[in-house]
Amino acid sequence: MRPIYFKYLTFTALFLLLHFGTVFADSEVLPDTENCLYCHRYPSMGRYDESGVKRIFYVNDEKFARSVHGKLKCKSCHAGVDKIPHTDVKKVDCTTKCHIREPSTDKEFSHINMVQKYETSVHGNGSKEKPKPFPEDLPTCKDCHENRIQSSVTGLWGKSEALSNETLARCIGCHTQKDWAQNFYLHFTHRMRRTRSQPEIIKLCTSCHEDSQKMARHGLESVSTFKDTFHWSLVKYGVKNAPDCISCHVPVGYTTHDIRSRTDPMSSIHTLNRIDTCSNQGGMQSCHPGATAEFATGRVHAYGTKAQLAAGMKVATFEDHENFRLLERAEVDISKDEIFHLKVLSLIQLFYKVFIPLVIGFMAYHQWLDWLKIIRTRKKRR
Ligand code: HEC
Ligand code: HEC
Ligand code: HEC
Ligand code: HEC
Ligand code: HEC
Ligand code: HEC
Repeated sequence: MRPIYFKYLTFTALFLLLHFGTVFADSEVLPDTENCLYCHRYPSMGRYDESGVKRIFYVNDEKFARSVHGKLKCKSCHAGVDKIPHTDVKKVDCTTKCHIREPSTDKEFSHINMVQKYETSVHGNGSKEKPKPFPEDLPTCKDCHENRIQSSVTGLWGKSEALSNETLARCIGCHTQKDWAQNFYLHFTHRMRRTRSQPEIIKLCTSCHEDSQKMARHGLESVSTFKDTFHWSLVKYGVKNAPDCISCHVPVGYTTHDIRSRTDPMSSIHTLNRIDTCSNQGGMQSCHPGATAEFATGRVHAYGTKAQLAAGMKVATFEDHENFRLLERAEVDISKDEIFHLKVLSLIQLFYKVFIPLVIGFMAYHQWLDWLKIIRTRKKRR
């Protein structure tokens, strides 16, 4: 811990700064009844903490007001923080009731529904009796909901400013109080589109799921082979209909906060539910409407052959037989068919490994003989 007097020094310096600052400050966006923004509205506010991590204590009042949490008081989330300098800061808990009432039930609102679901999902911490090993590998709410994304709500629906303006104008036609209308307009339209683009989702999920060491600790494989697939090529070329991680792992009727293991019958990728997931009936994306049971058993992440090759498995050497036997015995979920494919592939590789040097070798030998012949005939002529 840093000595407390350092904190007091920061505060004194800030106070002096602010007294000059307030003279030029813009008009208030929020009624800042808690006076938090009195200090926190200044962009220079931040420092490197003890472990060298950059902390930003600045809150942009306009962005905050337009964000999904813009109606909340700071203290609804930051419970405590009554003292200055703050010596009573606690971690924000998303299950805290935030003093807003949810109109359909008239109950006090919090994200407890989501947290409870999340706890039982594959990303949750496990039960009290059986906590999961390496809990630090699991994503927390903040890992996925970083502030940049939360506050980037521009109010545009499908990025069409014209459409937004016209629709909002209709609301205001009846609901003459503009701020009220805009608030609800944002509330609805925010849910009518994805907040994150496909590459953003893929970046988020692969930040853990491509870390093979981390994944191995949980008995999983890295999904980096996703980037060998046709699906990824589509994403790369900006095809809007292409699937990202949540298109398949969280299709219509599922939620991101309840992702399950593929062995769980509730999972969208469990063999029982695969046809629905591939065909995506009733969803916005049009995928494989005619998917059959056979089609839906196909490997998506290209483990099997490609992944084994990528993992540096020695193919087409005599140790292979040992490798295949290991594969057959291993608890990896690889079907007999796939092992057969691997074997065929390794034989083809072996064939070419012998065939190509032979062809080139014979050609070189042939050229060499030819050259000898030429030399000999020249000598004879002389
Ligand atoms: C007098 C100025 C001032 C006021 C008013 C103020 N803060 Fe702060 N706050 C600061 C300073 C300075 C820091 C950075 C302290 C540090 O360097 O550790 C800070 C830090 C914080 C932090 C981060 C603390 C941490 O270590 O994680 C939070 C959260 C916070 N303030 C919330 C609030 C809230 C909520 C309010 C209103 C109830 C508020 N602040 C009012 C000056 C202020
Ligand atoms: C919806 C809940 C919510 C509201 C409302 C909210 N915050 Fe925060 N704030 C968070 C979370 C979550 C963090 C991350 C720190 C944590 O997990 O405890 C955070 C972090 C901070 C930090 C520290 C940043 C850092 O790098 O550690 C400051 C300063 C802060 N908030 C100030 C404010 C101020 C001022 C307001 C009011 C204008 C406000 N917050 C409103 C949820 C909220
Ligand atoms: C902070 C790291 C982290 C992030 C980010 C993350 N995951 Fe995970 N995920 C894990 C860990 C760790 C496990 C293993 C949990 C266990 O062993 O119970 C896991 C398990 C899974 C599983 C279950 C695999 C199985 O069949 O058992 C799926 C599916 C999954 N994650 C999908 C996603 C998707 C989709 C995203 C992005 C929206 C995502 N994850 C983001 C760490 C992460
Ligand atoms: C693995 C990543 C991940 C984690 C962890 C996560 N979320 Fe989410 N959350 C998402 C995604 C993806 C969405 C869908 C919104 C979108 O399209 O970006 C979402 C949406 C939401 C929404 C908005 C729902 C809506 O329809 O507008 C809330 C509220 C939310 N999450 C709260 C939480 C809370 C609370 C936690 C912690 C228990 C949490 N999330 C953990 C990925 C995550
Ligand atoms: C033709 C006039 C008209 C238009 C256009 C209109 N509304 Fe309404 N709205 C009403 C009336 C009248 C009510 C009350 C109806 C009721 O309670 O059944 C209402 C109710 C609401 C409510 C529920 C309020 C509450 O507290 O119960 C919301 C939210 C709302 N409208 C949002 C919108 C939004 C957003 C738009 C634009 C996309 C919009 N309205 C367009 C007339 C309109
Ligand atoms: C086209 C649909 C689809 C897409 C896109 C997709 N997955 Fe999968 N995922 C599946 C299916 C189906 C499985 C079950 C195993 C298989 O058949 O490949 C799976 C398995 C997994 C597993 C379990 C791995 C293991 O070791 O058993 C994880 C973790 C996972 N996916 C994460 C992700 C992440 C992260 C992304 C985004 C980069 C993603 N998935 C994209 C369909 C998809």
